[in-house]
Amino acid sequence: MSERAQFVTRIGAIAATVGSAVGLGNIWRFPYEAGVNGGGAFLLIYIGCVLLVGIPVVVSEFIIGRGTHKNVAGALKQLAPGTKWHWMSYMGILASLMILSFYSVVCGWIIEYLFQAISANLSGHTAMEYTEMFNGFVGNPWRTVLWTVLFLCLNFLVLRRGIKRGIEKVANFMMPVLFLILLIFIAYALTLPGAAKGLKFLFVPKFSNISPKVAIGAMGQAFFSLSIGLSCILTYASYFKDTDSLARNATIVAALDTLVAILSGIIIFPVVFSFGMQPEAGPKLVFEILPNIFQQLPGSYIWSVMFFLLLFFASITSTISMSEISITFLVEEHNLSRSRATMVNTGIGIAFGTLCALSFSVLSDFTIFGKTIFDLFDFVSSNVLLPLGGIFFAWFVGWYIDRRFVDDQLTNHGTSPKSVWRPVLMFCIRYFAPCAIIIIFLYGLGLFDAIL
Ligand code: TRP
Repeated sequence: MSERAQFVTRIGAIAATVGSAVGLGNIWRFPYEAGVNGGGAFLLIYIGCVLLVGIPVVVSEFIIGRGTHKNVAGALKQLAPGTKWHWMSYMGILASLMILSFYSVVCGWIIEYLFQAISANLSGHTAMEYTEMFNGFVGNPWRTVLWTVLFLCLNFLVLRRGIKRGIEKVANFMMPVLFLILLIFIAYALTLPGAAKGLKFLFVPKFSNISPKVAIGAMGQAFFSLSIGLSCILTYASYFKDTDSLARNATIVAALDTLVAILSGIIIFPVVFSFGMQPEAGPKLVFEILPNIFQQLPGSYIWSVMFFLLLFFASITSTISMSEISITFLVEEHNLSRSRATMVNTGIGIAFGTLCALSFSVLSDFTIFGKTIFDLFDFVSSNVLLPLGGIFFAWFVGWYIDRRFVDDQLTNHGTSPKSVWRPVLMFCIRYFAPCAIIIIFLYGLGLFDAIL
């Protein structure tokens, strides 16, 4: 067998992992979740979730992936031989395909808007017309399916080139550009008249806003944003070098991911407040409200093109990471060639992505448990499968596998200096993270409703 690929440089490995983490979750979902859940209070709990639950689960996945250099099923088979624990990997693969499907639909909307921005169609309309434009577009079965398929084809082209020439190259180019665009936006947003009001909303917590609902939102957001719970970063970590420090990589990735979420809040809230809009607009914030605001700015053409380009870069570096889970699995466990495996992944994405895209038009009345297919995929994967996966990885690393294996990975076989944080990290992996996830998960399913 030919040698297994690895990311070429440490920066490349980090860029790819940050690329996976930074996505629609940061730029689209974080601001509206924060907006709906009361701003500062949400941010505070969110940061707590990232530190105490997010980083421990990231490290757990890193340990399994880098320790075995295998796909998720192969890794679990190696670490728990003769048991059925590797079945957990199928849950992760299924969840990754569900997320890929609905995520690609939103990516399709982004390409449509990028296209409209480039053809200068995103200006000269009234607020009402932007709403009509968005509803008209998502309600158009052909256009939405076409863009979803086109997006998945672009995703395919990157993935087929492999780890070094595809994933790492794209991340090395796109992530710095993404940060640059964010900084340009920030410099501008901070000069707007509503800047102070927007920053106050984001950073000053009103403690009366804290509730179980906010905590559930924050935890779900932390999982989604850090790409944890379904072996996505486990798969990327399997391409890390043995000399990379796992705890340091996890901290850098979590810090940059949180930074991008906060930066997009620093952009969006001042803009929203400066134009007398409400931050609670929800998912449509980016598509209905921002174009209307951009057109009122000088140089609106550039702003809207840059914004949708930013979203595109953020999202494609995330979808390639979701796809990589099943591709690595098919190549290593079922001996498919990389291009075959990529085709299978794209085919499944197109089939289910089409169903999700049509949830806004011809299939809008087709509901299961009162949810359209798009909403159902989102709910089941984000609210059920990600937390279950998170509990599993923390428990598996904290309690199941040999402690020496874990220590070897954390210390790079005893070569890295002692760290005072290591016991704290192990405490969170073993006790805090699993308990916190279970409690919030049960809340999320409404099991405590009867008691409270
Ligand atoms: N983290 C990405 C975002 O914020 C989405 C993502 C990529 C993801 N891979 C994942 C979410 C794996 C959950 C699991 O947009």
